[in-house]
Amino acid sequence: MSADAIEIDGREGAFEAHVQSEQKVEPKDWMPEAYRRTLVRQISQHAHSEIIGMQPEGNWITRAPSLRRKMILIAKVQDEAGHGLYLYSAAETLGVSRDQTEADLRAGKAKYSSIFNYPTPTWADIGIIGWLVDSAAIINQVPLARCSYGPYARAMVRICKEESFHQRQGFELSMALARGTPEQQAMVQESVNRWWWPVLMMFGPNDDASPHSAQSMAWRIKRHSNDDLRQKFVDQTIPQMEFLGLTVPDPDLKWNEARGHYDFGEIDWAEFKRVIGGQGPCNRQRMDNYRKAHDDGAWVREAALAFAEKNRKSDSRAAA
Ligand code: 3HC
Repeated sequence: MSADAIEIDGREGAFEAHVQSEQKVEPKDWMPEAYRRTLVRQISQHAHSEIIGMQPEGNWITRAPSLRRKMILIAKVQDEAGHGLYLYSAAETLGVSRDQTEADLRAGKAKYSSIFNYPTPTWADIGIIGWLVDSAAIINQVPLARCSYGPYARAMVRICKEESFHQRQGFELSMALARGTPEQQAMVQESVNRWWWPVLMMFGPNDDASPHSAQSMAWRIKRHSNDDLRQKFVDQTIPQMEFLGLTVPDPDLKWNEARGHYDFGEIDWAEFKRVIGGQGPCNRQRMDNYRKAHDDGAWVREAALAFAEKNRKSDSRAAA
């Protein structure tokens, strides 16, 4: 074995021991290239999800039914933008620029969460996104706060705190509708019917169909499997549904005393594949909006760069 290979072999061993002992990997630490690549993939796609996720809810800011709801929704959408920025910053510690990751998204080379490719035709969708999508996000993200990569884990601490506000406001909005007029009750039930299965897909493919899970868990990036987190979401959410007098569109859902969990029906993985392959109900619209926002913002970037350059020149003249 060459000296370099022995050197890497030694460092791989030290890296594995470091991670297995629950110590954090920091940007300046040596890390296997595959570990870095997996983190770049996951963190950048997580960031893209936060940014694209602003669209379905942003769509209702001008139509919120009260000033209070408008203020809450503006705060939530603004939070999502901030989550995206934290995560792009975490990705940049791995040597990939935000410009590059964003260019990859615009070029269709990067993913974002399937859940944001569904439409929000009614106000109830805003409650259901906050309640169900953000509950799923919290269940998925809290374990990431114990991820082996320091910058990602630390970004999750603040993001999870803000997500809990998002989830509470969504549940409260949904409860107001579930306890409202018959039309409002019908609207929130119809929304649950549309979002239930896409939210279960958020957790990713079944464990036996997940190409990344085993290695991600070995590296302590992923702390629980896709199916375990999905089961946790179902077990947590069904009692909430019952409390609001709502049902989920799954005839196979039933409590399994022996397992201590809810059994539920099979997810339509063909739909999942279509949506992450770009054929979802809103994929084209989301990406067209994203590209247009980038183009429309060109003048802001140019002005900021010109201002920074002017300041740099005046600073260097002053220093001379
Ligand atoms: N949407 C889009 N792609 C998905 C997906 C989903 N719901 N679930 C899985 N995939 C993709 C993976 O990215 C991977 O594709 P790739 O190789 O091209 O990247 C492929 O399907 C195989 O899936 P795996 O389960 O093997 O991949 P991972 O180990 O990466 O697990 C994950 C997928 C659980 C989504 C994981 O990446 C993860 O935990 N990511 C961080 C959390 C995240 O991104 N959440 C998205 C929602 S953000 C959000 O909800 C914001 C909130 O404020 C509303």
